[in-house]
Amino acid sequence: MGVTTMDPTTTTLPDDATAASDGGSAASEPAAEDVTFPENLVGIRTLEADQIRLVLDTAEHFRAISERPIKKVPALRGKTVVNLFFEPSTRTRTSFEIAGKRLSADVQSISASTSSVVKGETLLDTARNIEAMLPDILVIRHASAGAADFLAKHCSAAVVNAGDGAHEHPTQALLDALTIQRSKGTVAGLRVVIVGDIGHSRVARSNILCLRKLGAEVAVAAPPTLMPAEAEALGVTVHHRIEPALEGADVVMMLRIQVERGGKLNVPSTAEYFKLFGLTERRLGLARDDAIVMHPGPMNRGVEIASDVADGPRSVILEQVTNGLAVRMAILYLLAGGNPTNVESTA
Ligand code: MLT
Repeated sequence: MGVTTMDPTTTTLPDDATAASDGGSAASEPAAEDVTFPENLVGIRTLEADQIRLVLDTAEHFRAISERPIKKVPALRGKTVVNLFFEPSTRTRTSFEIAGKRLSADVQSISASTSSVVKGETLLDTARNIEAMLPDILVIRHASAGAADFLAKHCSAAVVNAGDGAHEHPTQALLDALTIQRSKGTVAGLRVVIVGDIGHSRVARSNILCLRKLGAEVAVAAPPTLMPAEAEALGVTVHHRIEPALEGADVVMMLRIQVERGGKLNVPSTAEYFKLFGLTERRLGLARDDAIVMHPGPMNRGVEIASDVADGPRSVILEQVTNGLAVRMAILYLLAGGNPTNVESTA
């Protein structure tokens, strides 16, 4: 479907370690209409830097549309988007629902607790039954890594990964890149530090891939129990204390401990974790004066981030949510074959 002529398998990088930055060179950037978009959005790993930039540019148009009194465009009129959420979600699910509706698509959301999964149906059977109703786009969140890729291989509808286990969360990384670009003018050359449960976080993984492809320098900080053994292979600088990681940072991204995926504290209490790794005003003083603070949510105030920092002038946490809607509109639009140079057009 859509404008895509690309076989997504041909865009796959050999491995994550080779996802080196291209420095965001404007000189070599093709025009938006010359960039093809894959048929599914399963992860950042399979996106090229130009495709990431295409999403960000398209999302900028949708941000502008979202600021109008009438926020709806007819681009996906007659298309059906089904959101299959097998894990709890507030932001992501609402964001995909509103994104689809603002594009005039018919949107249906199904959550695990109200689906036949509770009666023992497999993911494939659920998907096949939904497919029999001929949706155009399936958005899936699932606790198992690889669930979105599995659906993409078995379904003819375009598939969007809204988070698969500890693997990838591509729309989060794209909205984070848009937020950084809007705040700082660029992503290339910035020093971004990601602090928290790196080992169990799909947000960390997708962000590392995305930020490096856009030319940022990425550092991660976590206690050893929350740091993956292969972290350095992702091309990041690894720290086991927060302070040296924060020094000179342009962007500070804080992450929740993913207890539901086995993220365990190696300290006696959350208060102790906050003492060692929590982002306080004082610690933020180690970063650059104009550093921004990000968090994908849900936040645990007083565990990974102090309330005054979360609500402070350098926080762009709610901007991330606003940008998330624009990015998801862009993704649905591009997957449905929308023309990136005319977002008001019918797909
Ligand atoms: C996620 O879905 O991974 C969230 O956006 C981050 C979290 O759950 O902590």
